[in-house]
Amino acid sequence: MPITDQRPLPTLSEGEKKAIKESWPQIYQNFEQTSLDVLIEFLQKFPEAQDSFPKFSAKKCHLEQDNEVKWQASRIINAVNAVVGHLDNEVAMKQYLKELSVKHSSEFQVDPKMFKELSAIFVSTIRGKAAYEKLFSIICTLLRSSYDE
Ligand code: HEM
Repeated sequence: MPITDQRPLPTLSEGEKKAIKESWPQIYQNFEQTSLDVLIEFLQKFPEAQDSFPKFSAKKCHLEQDNEVKWQASRIINAVNAVVGHLDNEVAMKQYLKELSVKHSSEFQVDPKMFKELSAIFVSTIRGKAAYEKLFSIICTLLRSSYDE
């Protein structure tokens, strides 16, 4: 199933939550490299997205060695880690992602279509199955939510 950012918000079954909780620690154990791979592939595929990041928008090459790029990559995977931590607390998960959505829309002014693109690269990098596609559909839909208000 492709990742969507459109409501209705998907719901994870208990089995899907369990599959994520069991597999996530192994993915997260390598969080620095994994998140860097994701962000670098994203910036290669969508070079215009680099303009959104003031701390490295002007950097032309060796992005993978740039400390600001590494820091940004780790912030993304740490946000996903926080969402995984909220799997059994829907209210907290929604609130967390809603706050991030507000920042992305009003403070960072990111094109909301890009959430899906980055998420697809994330899921493919971690070789995530259907449960992860659903998780990232939830993340994308909620990250988009403040744009539609
Ligand atoms: C799964 C998708 C994403 C997640 C989980 C995520 C997560 C985050 C987090 C946790 C922060 C730090 C927020 C803070 O300062 O409190 C952040 C900042 C930011 N994000 Fe995202 N993000 C995602 C996708 C994107 C995409 C696709 C773009 C751009 C095309 C983007 C652009 C930015 C920018 C510009 C900042 C601020 C950078 C700065 O502080 O200089 N994000 N993001």
